[in-house]
Amino acid sequence: MNNENLSFATIAITGALGGIGREVTRTLSKLGAHVIAIDLLEQGEGESELRKIAPNESTYLQSNLTDNQSLRNVIEKMSEGEFPNAVVALAGIVISGDLVTQSDEDIEDVINCNLTSQIKLSREIIHHWQNKSIEGQIIFVSSWVDHVPWPGITPYASSKAGLVALSRGIARENAKFGIRSNVLSPGIVDVGMAAKQWREENDYKLRAMRAIPLGRLQSAQEVADGVSFLLGPRALYMTGSNLLIDGGASLYPMDPEDVN
Ligand SMILES: NC(=O)c1ccc[n+]([C@@H]2O[C@H](COP(=O)([O-])OP(=O)(O)OC[C@H]3O[C@@H](n4cnc5c(N)ncnc54)[C@H](O)[C@@H]3O)[C@@H](O)[C@H]2O)c1
Repeated sequence: MNNENLSFATIAITGALGGIGREVTRTLSKLGAHVIAIDLLEQGEGESELRKIAPNESTYLQSNLTDNQSLRNVIEKMSEGEFPNAVVALAGIVISGDLVTQSDEDIEDVINCNLTSQIKLSREIIHHWQNKSIEGQIIFVSSWVDHVPWPGITPYASSKAGLVALSRGIARENAKFGIRSNVLSPGIVDVGMAAKQWREENDYKLRAMRAIPLGRLQSAQEVADGVSFLLGPRALYMTGSNLLIDGGASLYPMDPEDVN
């Protein structure tokens, strides 16, 4: 491992085979980490996808993190091998639509995946780190909408705001163990869920086109660079922080007619 770049040798990445996850996985693998990629894809298919992006030392673990047993299994498998000393929590979903149009299931799915499963996963990870005196770090991936009312994704934004509280709580409770927790909040990225909304929801595209002061979508590499920074030696004093890398999107009012 190149210690100039990363302070952690074994890094678990949830949602590792998603749009942003692939770039984060590729980048951390290139920097010399043993990556443990966790995603929904069936084991064989996941392994072959992972080989394409992280041909060095890497492990794929299939898990649906919203399922308690599946989450426990993934923790157990990691305990049998090299347990990660850092986690990048990227697994997430978005369901678009004004709140009044969203069903109970839509709301529960978003909160379960984006918040509840992350609370449970971090509880298990931290329990292990405390028992083994591992000074680990968790990075939760939130979004610039954790404090900006972008229309049509209110349950999603609520889940992301919850992640900020989760991370700060973990940071406060675990600083005495040398365990740190930080949030990274990207803007509007040109892959994954935002790219899908951009393609499929005209309203979203019109708003997004006008809402980024730097005038372009964010690359997944720019998110991966933020993750690498938080996992590196220059961020050792950071805990309980929310690193916002959004091209200024959160600086703008949200209704198109209010922009400019
Ligand atoms: N794309 C953006 O513009 C953007 C902006 C800000 C924040 N984010 C956040 O970044 C993260 C990654 O987003 P993305 O755009 O790459 O989305 P994506 O849909 O491409 O990737 C999400 C990944 O999470 C996995 N996943 C979903 N539910 C899971 C579960 N129950 N168990 C295990 N894995 C599960 C999916 O299989 C997928 O590979 C998300 O948390 C998202 O909220 C994305």
